[in-house]
Amino acid sequence: MTGKYQIWDPFFEYVLALGLARVTECGAFAASRMRGRGDEKKADQFAVDAMRRELNRLPIRGRVVIGEGERDEAPMLYIGEEVGSGDGPQVDIALDPLEGTTICAKNLPNSLSVIAVSKAGGMLHAPDVYMEKIAIGPGYPADLVDLDAEPCANILALSQAKSVSPDRITACILDRPRHAELIESVRSSGAAIRLITDGDVAAVIHAATPAETGIDVYMGIGGAPEGILAGAALRCIGGQMQGRLILDTVERRDRAFQMGIRSPEHKYSLEDMVRHDVMFVATGVTDGSLLNGVRFLDNRIITETMIMSSSSGLLRRVCSEHRDLDEPESG
Ligand code: FBP
Repeated sequence: MTGKYQIWDPFFEYVLALGLARVTECGAFAASRMRGRGDEKKADQFAVDAMRRELNRLPIRGRVVIGEGERDEAPMLYIGEEVGSGDGPQVDIALDPLEGTTICAKNLPNSLSVIAVSKAGGMLHAPDVYMEKIAIGPGYPADLVDLDAEPCANILALSQAKSVSPDRITACILDRPRHAELIESVRSSGAAIRLITDGDVAAVIHAATPAETGIDVYMGIGGAPEGILAGAALRCIGGQMQGRLILDTVERRDRAFQMGIRSPEHKYSLEDMVRHDVMFVATGVTDGSLLNGVRFLDNRIITETMIMSSSSGLLRRVCSEHRDLDEPESG
């Protein structure tokens, strides 16, 4: 403990939750100015600038462990950057100021502004590479599905655990050529697939609430940063997840080594990816199945945010009306 506050102290948690909501609200609001304008980079830059500005107002000594990239390739919110006012507990921060840059640029569903915060050392420090992922919701026997099992075998195991036939299972998968074999194997089981163009943080969260979303399992290869962020959400709402970094070049293995990763082939459990209590906060940029996007009403701005905490089990949806949100600083 340092400074005025101790993280996970209930009062600090309450304060931090609202502070983090402000951070993602500002990120979402800034990105939404570029919604549907076909400029992914600018939308992302707006979100990064706004999020960084708000983060530096929070009473924390934060270190970005999952960010916009590694130091030499990202000018802001890079892995290792220190953020916060410097007065408060030491925390690790995983963030994606604009998850789904393409979907924001095209104004398609489910782009989000996302952050997760844990005590220092609470989240896996992963490089910005791809990750194989599989995720299901809570209430199943441990290790019911496994990255190393055939996809059709995972569907079968899931259907048996749910006491339904495999054709009642829906898997969510990113629509990418690299998933051709995965898709074939899942379809061979009889299961349905919901193909998404982008945004696997929302997809993993959806797999945790199959009764509401109709998605029973998320499978496939997406970004490792998004994997850790989605893992943080699952730690809060419950579920199982496994991930394996794709370190298929010497350069990627070296980058991972520098971050402390000694076994490139390691299959991470959810608990390996998110070791300690965590808070996860996301605000909708575009309208989506998880959250409504930013809305502009005369002089008011409406945002919808979800706040989760693993220590208290909190899951709060906040619909906020803002009189004004600062203009992004760059453009
Ligand atoms: P960005 O926010 O970086 O655009 O990521 C969107 C996303 O769809 C993620 O949700 C997903 O993990 C990743 O891209 C998949 O990467 P790729 O588009 O290279 O297949």
